[in-house]
Amino acid sequence: MKTFIYPGSFDPVTNGHMDIIERASKICDKLFVAVLISHSKQPLFSMEERVSLLKRAVSHCDNVEVECFSGLLVDYVAQKNAKVIIKGLRAVSDFEYELQMALLNQKMAPDIETLFMMSNINYSFLSSSMVKELAKYGGNIKGLVPECIEEDVLRKFKK
Ligand code: PNS
Repeated sequence: MKTFIYPGSFDPVTNGHMDIIERASKICDKLFVAVLISHSKQPLFSMEERVSLLKRAVSHCDNVEVECFSGLLVDYVAQKNAKVIIKGLRAVSDFEYELQMALLNQKMAPDIETLFMMSNINYSFLSSSMVKELAKYGGNIKGLVPECIEEDVLRKFKK
């Protein structure tokens, strides 16, 4: 059974993430979307909110499950009996950070591979930070996040 892990902060999930999730789920048997419980980063959405938004967004993908993890990614991957980490690459600017993480993970767990998928050109400019910035100042986030979570993102800034 081919199990892939797609890790991230997902604060919140964007259509760029959804593009990677939908494409990756087609080339594996099971895809775990793994939400990092970060102790250093201060996310806008709580871990429960990020998981819940993701679960709603992926409800049409039969072989996709959303979980959270803490600690080292490679330990979580091994615990799921998986061998593949999926990451999305948007632009050259992502490359250095992603290379560093992939090489560190390879050093710690040589039997786990990181596979990179090039993001869809329509989302190569998109990030969770940009979505939050837009939502904060009343910009239009239509088409940038899954429709079913749009209201939740906007509501966060209305408080
Ligand atoms: O969406 P993000 O914030 O770019 O995701 C980063 C993530 C979650 C993939 C990365 O921070 C991670 O794997 N954290 C777990 C801790 C870990 O394993 N660190 C060592 C590799 S750098």
